[in-house]
Amino acid sequence: MSVANSKLAVFPASGALGSSIYTHLLDLELVIPSNLVLVARYPDKIPAKYRDAGVLVRKADYDEGESLEHAFAHVSCLHIISYPTFAHKHRTDAHKTAIDAARRSGVRHIFYSSLAFGGNCQLQSLAHVMQAHLDTEEYLASIAAKDSSFSYTVIRQGIYSESFPIYTAFFTLTSEQDEIQIPHDGSGSGVAWAKRDELGEATAQMMRLYTKSPKDFRYINKTVLLSGPKVWSYPETLSVLSNASGKQLRLRSVSVDEYVNQPSMQNFAQPYGLGDTGRIWATAFEAIKAGETAVPSTLLGELLGREPEDYEKTIAALASAK
Ligand SMILES: NC(=O)c1ccc[n+]([C@@H]2O[C@H](COP(=O)([O-])OP(=O)(O)OC[C@H]3O[C@@H](n4cnc5c(N)ncnc54)[C@H](OP(=O)(O)O)[C@@H]3O)[C@@H](O)[C@H]2O)c1
Repeated sequence: MSVANSKLAVFPASGALGSSIYTHLLDLELVIPSNLVLVARYPDKIPAKYRDAGVLVRKADYDEGESLEHAFAHVSCLHIISYPTFAHKHRTDAHKTAIDAARRSGVRHIFYSSLAFGGNCQLQSLAHVMQAHLDTEEYLASIAAKDSSFSYTVIRQGIYSESFPIYTAFFTLTSEQDEIQIPHDGSGSGVAWAKRDELGEATAQMMRLYTKSPKDFRYINKTVLLSGPKVWSYPETLSVLSNASGKQLRLRSVSVDEYVNQPSMQNFAQPYGLGDTGRIWATAFEAIKAGETAVPSTLLGELLGREPEDYEKTIAALASAK
């Protein structure tokens, strides 16, 4: 099967990252529409203009294994975006189900969107949220080690600039609060924030590099870090959020107990028997303190062909959109 003549797929395609990837694939003409398969549990979420242009849309659900059996037919290169939960086992199992179904369908290369914890692509992390990603990465590597006709590329997607609320105990640009209470004192390294839509665009460009010439692709059986180009410490991040929200934000370092018991954390619930979600999420702060999110990368800019957007600009645009 020639890769040039077979299809490219994105699953799940309907979320923020998935839509950004396929929109850039199509709008930048990196793939012809009839060569693209978008897999989603609610196909109607894919805009009609793309279906009308010839994109194939298929229905599949991570939680319904059978639905994945035919979702990847005639696909040679699949981009799998992680299941949106940080329940370790449920997420890992869902990924393995999709990977196994893809292999049975004849998929030869899988891109997997992982996450930029774990420093410079290390195989361990203090953050609970990273554990299913690490297991999935290991699973892909174990398959490729046994089967030379299969390959993968793990993209550790940068921490979204837009995701600051989950690192600030759910402060939003319209919140009344002016104090951020987290189990982190603000010192030391911070986060190499990256704009979500630029991650989607750069990922689309990377997929294009693979489909153009799989044998020349630099990232066969590799894990790459797609973080932002600059690390923003907590004080710098809070200064940007202060400017955008019009409040003078202060950081108060609190215990994990105080962190999970504050009112803004009360709605932080996740399914799949996670128990005390806030306490589990607090492990992310341990990872941040250890510098796991503080590795900048030039790859994002290289793939975009321009400087990535400055964090301050992204946040200011979010504020003016309110
Ligand atoms: N890099 C970061 O900083 C960062 C930040 C936050 C989250 N993430 C993670 O990165 C991944 C992509 O994020 P995103 O921004 O694109 O999230 P998102 O906008 O919330 O999209 C989630 C996607 O998952 C799909 N989905 C949910 N349950 C599913 C199921 N059972 N079967 C199939 N599809 C299902 C959704 O489909 P429907 O349209 O059908 O709901 C949607 O397409 C997620 O795992 C997310 O948790 C990363």
